Amino acid sequence: MLEERIGEKNMAAIAIDGPAGAGKSTIAKKVAKELGYIYVDTGAMYRAIAYYLVTNHIDIEDEEALNTACSQITIRIAYEDGAQQVYLNDENVTPYLRTEETGNMASKSSAKAPVRAALLDLQRDMAKEYDVVMDGRDIGTNVLPDAEVKIYLTASSKERANRRYKELIEKGEKPDFDQIEADIIERDNRDMNRAIAPLKQAEDAVLVDSSDMGIEEVVQAILNAARDREL
Ligand code: DC
Repeated sequence: MLEERIGEKNMAAIAIDGPAGAGKSTIAKKVAKELGYIYVDTGAMYRAIAYYLVTNHIDIEDEEALNTACSQITIRIAYEDGAQQVYLNDENVTPYLRTEETGNMASKSSAKAPVRAALLDLQRDMAKEYDVVMDGRDIGTNVLPDAEVKIYLTASSKERANRRYKELIEKGEKPDFDQIEADIIERDNRDMNRAIAPLKQAEDAVLVDSSDMGIEEVVQAILNAARDREL
């Protein structure tokens, strides 16, 4: 019954892919707000699985252990005051997801087939039910190949490291710029060179290099692309 109802709807999707630190989430949130769509942060879903793997000391190279772990994980998404919340086995883990440790584990564990399989249907189901702006690494290429608008949002590794550096300074930390840039480059390499659903620009995606663009400029570029598709 529910499937029939969902099947009848014709929802719109904007897919935003790109490397870590390109500004995807900031921009996707603004575009979603402007259009009245739901923002779906798929990186947070991968981070929630990574959080489970770290806290349960799972060796991701141990195939059996990883399969068992994935079979024990349920991820659910909810929206509270318009902000996405990620529930891992009914616990809201959103506050624990933005650490470097979780991000690095997410980059490694998201290369594994059982981890990707655990999230694909959840992401597709959300796009069946709602108008979405969904960001990630493989949304335009793999999760939503029929998305009306596809954006590949990138920026130079220097600029992305610079943005991260400033964020950490604002938090009162004492970051090492070269280390941040090295980590970003390492993460790019892992995300772009994995065998399953690697990060790459979809053939029909619009390339937006935000190195020298302000946030509003990027938002407007995406809204223009959406208007062109009559969204
Ligand atoms: O966007 P983020 O930094 O929160 O993502 C964390 C990691 O999750 C990223 O390094 C790669 C992985 N990821 C993915 O493989 N596919 C997605 N659609 C989103 C994230």
